[in-house]
Amino acid sequence: MKALVLSGGKGTRLRPFSYSMPKQLIPIANKPVLEHILGNLRAVGVEETAIIVGDWGPEIRALLGDGSRYGMRITYLPQDEPRGLAHCVTLARDFLGDDDFVMYLGDNMLPQGVSHIAEEFRERRPAAQVVVHKVPDPRAFGVAEVDADGRVTHLVEKPQRPVSDLALIGVYFFTPAIHDAVAAIRPSARGELEITDAIALLVAQGEEVKASEYDGYWRDTGRVEDVLECNRELLDTLVPRVAGEVDAASELVGQVVVEPGARVVRSRIHGPVVVGAGTVVEDSWVGPHTAIGRDCVLSDARLDYSIALDGATVRHVHGIHGSLIGRAAVVRCDDTGPGRHRLVVGDHTTVEVAA
Ligand code: G1P
Repeated sequence: MKALVLSGGKGTRLRPFSYSMPKQLIPIANKPVLEHILGNLRAVGVEETAIIVGDWGPEIRALLGDGSRYGMRITYLPQDEPRGLAHCVTLARDFLGDDDFVMYLGDNMLPQGVSHIAEEFRERRPAAQVVVHKVPDPRAFGVAEVDADGRVTHLVEKPQRPVSDLALIGVYFFTPAIHDAVAAIRPSARGELEITDAIALLVAQGEEVKASEYDGYWRDTGRVEDVLECNRELLDTLVPRVAGEVDAASELVGQVVVEPGARVVRSRIHGPVVVGAGTVVEDSWVGPHTAIGRDCVLSDARLDYSIALDGATVRHVHGIHGSLIGRAAVVRCDDTGPGRHRLVVGDHTTVEVAA
């Protein structure tokens, strides 16, 4: 089975981060979302993957390369504009040939994996098999109506009045039957070729379309809140490991990873926390549920439930919570004068300070 990973979107909900990096490379527990996805694909036996990329193609390629590090071959297919998930299938037509494939949205995290669903698909080979998950408000998703045998009887993209609470969560298994369906659909009201419409056409033609419920943890990492939440979830399964240096005046509590070359000095780290390679933490309190990237500096800092990306600095600031600090960003308390804050804040950035 081949894989098609979609990473062409613009990530507007993840501004300002998506101004300087593709949202699919945002780290969750210090590992980019796309690497988590490749791990899941490898686990279902995928050896050939095509990644649809937009403007951030070079950055994605620079990280993932030819795929050999992930035990697969990776091909990159450019998309000029986000024109819909089904459009991506047409771009990959030659790559896919007549093989079965799994299509995976590049910002969806399913940490429990989809191996058992892939097995069901391989055994039965319905024309399509969608992965669904119960959500409280399905209106923002594709929604499936499913009969007692797991057959999809009805499928609608972002319905005003959902017929069920089963949302499509970004992983789809297809036989080559999907190609004719994709070729037959027209753009939706939002101007995109919707994969939901192509699958609905298969249903209307009487083809077998199955739904498998994924009951593990799922997150679309489209917004900062989702990234932090997903980070917390993954950190909860962290296996402690100290490869860097921790001095005698520091205390590590619970699941803590200190990567090689990192130094923890006179600090208290309350796991789950990961401290990236080359990072220095001194006179600080960190955690729980915090991921610090590579080559960061935390000095007299206190933060929890947060993520700091590579090269970030926090000095003399306490009480940081629920925060996502960008690459090489600096958060510090300086002598700016009593009651004054000095802010150099880029576009679409949010700063929330205590009342
Ligand atoms: C897309 C699909 C939708 C699916 C969702 C999952 O929506 O069109 O059916 O439920 O991904 O994240 P989009 O993110 O393009 O709005």
